[in-house]
Amino acid sequence: MRIRPAHPGDIPILYAIVNEYARRGWLLPRSVEEIATTLPDWMVAEVEGRIVGCGSLVWMSPTLAEIRSLAVEEAYQGNGVGGAIVQALVERARSAGARTIFALTRAVPFFERLGFTVAERDRFPEKVWRDCIHCPLRERCDEVAMVLQVG
Ligand SMILES: CC(C)(COP(=O)(O)OP(=O)(O)OC[C@H]1O[C@@H](n2cnc3c(N)ncnc32)[C@H](O)[C@@H]1OP(=O)(O)O)[C@@H](O)C(=O)NCCC(=O)NCCS
Repeated sequence: MRIRPAHPGDIPILYAIVNEYARRGWLLPRSVEEIATTLPDWMVAEVEGRIVGCGSLVWMSPTLAEIRSLAVEEAYQGNGVGGAIVQALVERARSAGARTIFALTRAVPFFERLGFTVAERDRFPEKVWRDCIHCPLRERCDEVAMVLQVG
C-alpha cells in the first residue's frame, strides 16, 4: 500500500468513493469542481496501482485544519489504510502550519488510536458556521468532534 498526494487523473475515482459514502449519509458530498479546486489537500491510498481510499484537509484558518472525506473501500477496511491516510494528512497539515487538526466523525476509537481526543464542538465555530448550518441533521447530529494538537 502506498499513500501519495492526489493527481488530477484521480478526480473521478475520488468523486465516486466520497459520494458513495455520502449517499449512505456517512460523509458530506463533494462535487467534481470542489475536489478539483482543493486537489493539493487530498491524499490517496493505492494498492497495486488502484485507489482504495482517500482523505482531505479543509482549512478553516491558517492554523486550523479539518480532516474531511476520509473513506476506504469496504473490501480494504480494517487493514490500516484509513490510519495511514490520517497520518499522512496530519503530517501534511503540520508542515503547512496547522496547530490544530480536527474531525467530525462517528469513528471515535479509530481517531483515538491515532492520538485524537474528544472535544467540545463549540471549539470549532468556523466549522459549525460554514458547514453545519446547511445540514439537515444539525439538530440531531450524532458526530463527535475529535481534535489533535500539533503545535
Ligand atoms: C473510518 C474508515 C476510514 C477507517 O478505515 P480503515 O482502513 O478501516 O481504518 P484502519 O484499518 O486504519 O482502522 C480500522 C479500525 O477503525 C475502526 N472503525 C472504522 N470505522 C469505524 C466507525 N465508523 N466507528 C467506529 N470504529 C470504526 C474499526 O473498527 C477498526 O478497529 P479494529 O482494528 O479495532 O477493528 C473506514 O471505515 C471508512 O471508510 N468508513 C466509512 C466512511 C467514514 O465513516 N469515514 C469517517 C469520517 S471522518
